[in-house]
Amino acid sequence: MPLVPMRQILDEAAKGGYGVGAFNVNNMEQIQAIMQAANDTNSPVIIQASRGALKYSKMIYLKKLMEAAAEEFPHIPVAMHLDHGNSLETCKEAIALGFTSVMMDGSLGEDGKTPNSYEQNVNVTLAVVEYAHPLGVTVEGELGCLGGIEDGHGAGLSDAQVQDHLTNPAQAEDFVAKTGLDALAVAIGTSHGAYKAGRKDPVTGQMLPPVLAMDRIYEIHKRMPKCHMVMHGSSSVPKELVDIINQYGGNMPDTFGIPIEQIQDGIKHGVRKVNVDTDSRLAITGAIRKLFAEKPEKFDPRDYLKPAREAAYDVYVKRMNAFGQAGHAGDYKPITLEDAKALYR
Ligand code: G3H
Ligand code: 13P
Ligand code: ZN
Repeated sequence: MPLVPMRQILDEAAKGGYGVGAFNVNNMEQIQAIMQAANDTNSPVIIQASRGALKYSKMIYLKKLMEAAAEEFPHIPVAMHLDHGNSLETCKEAIALGFTSVMMDGSLGEDGKTPNSYEQNVNVTLAVVEYAHPLGVTVEGELGCLGGIEDGHGAGLSDAQVQDHLTNPAQAEDFVAKTGLDALAVAIGTSHGAYKAGRKDPVTGQMLPPVLAMDRIYEIHKRMPKCHMVMHGSSSVPKELVDIINQYGGNMPDTFGIPIEQIQDGIKHGVRKVNVDTDSRLAITGAIRKLFAEKPEKFDPRDYLKPAREAAYDVYVKRMNAFGQAGHAGDYKPITLEDAKALYR
């Protein structure tokens, strides 16, 4: 099966009332683990690559790996998506490479750090939509800014500043109407990485997960029931995965993630795409650390990449079941980019 336009995966998810995990990849092992998990749970799936991932994999390798994935599992609808594109040029590059979907993150400037004005965001997102839709390619945009900073990406907003950059539902309506995008990434207080903005329990002093502005999601869904929302920064950062890392020589104190129940609540209210990267990174790192600690004589990369791939697989299976996409791979006949062109005309 050729890679399918992400729009179809999201439209079908809306019909079925479920969410779809969009998993970040940088290498063969992650792609294989995702595809195996999608096959075993019979799930449609979104695989996404950041600009950093494209640089790391030298682009062409990732393209060929994705083609292999689609060829090995022809019955699984899979979309290939650019995560956090920073300009029209980057989106064009991804589309030329065969991506069936791109994110134009116009919430930030080209440097991936400085918040854009609303007008700048509308203009750059619209330019990408006008380029991508005639080619059948799906476009995700973002309104509002996420918290935190990861590998140089993100505005590095403080907890207080994040509250000033949450998505405004009325503006979201205007943004969707002006740009005609397919999916809207919302800022509700999540952030990328393993250290999401936590808070101290005033009584016990224990750290609690971040408070999310779920009301923004409810309101946007009420105003635009057909709008597919995207939750970024949606790793749950399971304690058991962090514990493995710390048990075997790592040093990751005070990590926080998004509870699965909150993501499921979002899915009930129009969230269709759920971005997860960190959880896979944690699983892979923990498995490799464990192998190195327990079998220090090992030096064949297969000895540690195989358990790493298996650990990532377990995460993907859990998320596919939790988001509800499991069991839906065969619900529909996937369309091609060629077919999708007609949708936008
Ligand atoms: O947007 C954040 C994703 O987790 C990608 O991270 O830019 O380090 O590849 P990255
Ligand atoms: P996490 O860091 O929570 O996995 O979020 C990933 C993401 O939003 C990628 O765009
Ligand atoms: Zn993101």
